[in-house]
Amino acid sequence: MAFSRPLLQLLSNGHFYSGTQLGDMLGCSRAAVWKMIQVLESAGVDIFHVRGKGYRLARAVELLDEKQILAAIPGASRSYLSGVDVFFDIDSTNTYLMQRPLSHSEVGRACIAEVQQFGRGRRGRQWVSPFGSNLYLSLRWRFSRGVAQLGGLSLAVGVAVTNALRQTGVKGLGLKWPNDIFLQNKKLAGVLLEVSGESSGPCEVVIGVGVNVCSTEFSQEAIDQPWTDLESILEKRVSRNLLAAQVIGELMTAAQLFDKQGFAVFREEWMVMDILSGHDVVLMTPAAEVRGIEEGVDMDGALLLTLGDGSRQSFHGGEVSLRAARTLAVNA
Ligand code: BTN
Repeated sequence: MAFSRPLLQLLSNGHFYSGTQLGDMLGCSRAAVWKMIQVLESAGVDIFHVRGKGYRLARAVELLDEKQILAAIPGASRSYLSGVDVFFDIDSTNTYLMQRPLSHSEVGRACIAEVQQFGRGRRGRQWVSPFGSNLYLSLRWRFSRGVAQLGGLSLAVGVAVTNALRQTGVKGLGLKWPNDIFLQNKKLAGVLLEVSGESSGPCEVVIGVGVNVCSTEFSQEAIDQPWTDLESILEKRVSRNLLAAQVIGELMTAAQLFDKQGFAVFREEWMVMDILSGHDVVLMTPAAEVRGIEEGVDMDGALLLTLGDGSRQSFHGGEVSLRAARTLAVNA
């Protein structure tokens, strides 16, 4: 049986409904309601069943809605977006957009989901993606630059995401190279960039963003590093539709600026938010482990380290890990 959005919509207010009530409202039998509930549960939706009262969601949720998201994206940027594909359940929003090239007339297309079954993080890690609590979104964008000229894009994207998050009222955001978004020394959001195209000609990039909005329901053990979420910091509910529009809007603005001027225009903002600046750090690459003092990034977004012998070196590559040696308790 397929996923039923009308059933999820009815339950989204967090109130109890009996199987009979739901069946009446949906025009189907109690048995059909039961089957639809099972489909939702198998996708990871937490539903309470109480004898004599019926079913309710563990907590009320604002479901993702394409019209609301599109309406909240600033008009100037919206014209560049051909649409936002909203899914209940998907393997990964990045995987979906990697498999969906833009047509000639498209510059950008976004995708967002309530649940990701195989959410992907950097370095092949899993991105834990439970139902209705966080933001899992991707934007596919056409750049006129070739792949070789995308140095620093992932850092520019980190800056764009912090600009969007700040619109919720959150203060004190930090960036950890290359683009992890931190708050109070805990990870709040992550970015995964995937590129398709030629090294010289135009290319398309899928920019994936995961933001912890209300992460209280999944266990700390499932995530291998300290994390935080917007709602527990702000102590208020956050509209995921509005936040999605803000993230997509800021990503599109940044993508256009980056295409014209590269990373240089984002560098100062990135450096201001660099949480490891001046700290003694360890940079791990598949080839080596390098220890040094973190001195920010160069004009291409490469990490600058002053090594023990006093020399200063830059380090490129998206898949390196950085671990604070002493002063900060953050994980790569
Ligand atoms: C990281 O910090 O490791 C990057 C996490 C990126 C997660 C987002 S969620 C939306 C998009 N789809 C994915 O499968 N991954 C990215």
